[in-house]
Amino acid sequence: MADLYYNRVKETFTHLQRIAPFYPDIVITLGTGLSELAEAVNKVQVTPYSEIPHFPISTVETHRGELIFGTLGGKRLVLLRGRFHYYEGYSAKDLSFPLRVLSQFKPKVYLVSNAAGGLNLSFKAGDLMLIKDHINLIPDNPLRGVNHEEWGPRFPDLSKAYDDDLRSLFKEIARAHQEEIKEGVYVAVPGPSLETPAETRFLRMIGADAVGMSTVPEVIVAIHSGIKVLGVSVIANVNDPDNFRPILFEEVVEVAQAAEKRLTNLIKSFLERLEL
Ligand code: HPA
Repeated sequence: MADLYYNRVKETFTHLQRIAPFYPDIVITLGTGLSELAEAVNKVQVTPYSEIPHFPISTVETHRGELIFGTLGGKRLVLLRGRFHYYEGYSAKDLSFPLRVLSQFKPKVYLVSNAAGGLNLSFKAGDLMLIKDHINLIPDNPLRGVNHEEWGPRFPDLSKAYDDDLRSLFKEIARAHQEEIKEGVYVAVPGPSLETPAETRFLRMIGADAVGMSTVPEVIVAIHSGIKVLGVSVIANVNDPDNFRPILFEEVVEVAQAAEKRLTNLIKSFLERLEL
C-alpha cells in the first residue's frame, strides 16, 4: 500500500532541510493566547505555514500559522506558532503532521503549551500547571495505521511520557522566580463544544486535573520519535460541577494572555539552564 502520509512527511522535510538555517534542538508549540514567547525569540527565519508544502491550514483565528527558526536562552529552536486541532476536522495524524516532519531533524526536546480548563478545585484561573501525565479521550491516535520503524516502535511506551528531569528543572526555575507551579493530569477531549457539568464531574472522577482539546496527539508523536516532552497548561478557567459557570472562549484567551509573560520568563530561564 502506498503511504501518502509517509511521502508527504519526506517531501516536506526535504523542503525544510533546504530552507532551515540550522537543525533545531528544541521544538515548541504555543497554545491559545500564548504566542508572546515568539516575541522573545531571536528570530532567524519566519515562514508562513501557507508556504510550506503539505502543511495543514489553521481554521482558528487565535492561532497564527508561522514556523519560526530562532534562538532563545542560547538554544536552537523551531517554534510552531499556531497549531491544529481535532475539532477543526483534522485527524490526529494530520494535525500532528508538522511535529512528525520536525521530528526528522532529531530534536531532543518538545516543549508544548496550551490553555486548559481546571478540574482540580484547588486551581485558580491564571495558574500554571506542569503536565505529569495525560488521558486521551480524543477518539483517534496519530499512530493509527502503517508504522514506520524508522520513525519509532509500533507500540510506544507511555509510562513516562512527560520527562521527570525536565519537570524537575522547570520546578526549580519556577521556585527561583517565586512562581507557584501546579502539577497534574491533562485530559484531551475532542471538542469543540465545552464540557457539561456532568462531563466535568466525570473527567475529575477519572483522575484529570485539567481539560483541553489539544496537545496529546502531538505528545504521542514526540514520544514515538524519541523526543523528551515538557508540557505546560495555563489554567484559563476552573470548572466546578456543583457551581457551574459558563465557559466563555473570550475569557479563556484573556486569562491565557495575562499569564503568558510569566510563562515566557520561565521558559526563557528554563532554556538557559537546560543541558542538552
Ligand atoms: N474545557 C476544554 N478546553 C478548554 C477549557 C475548558 O474548560 N478552557 C480552555 N480550554
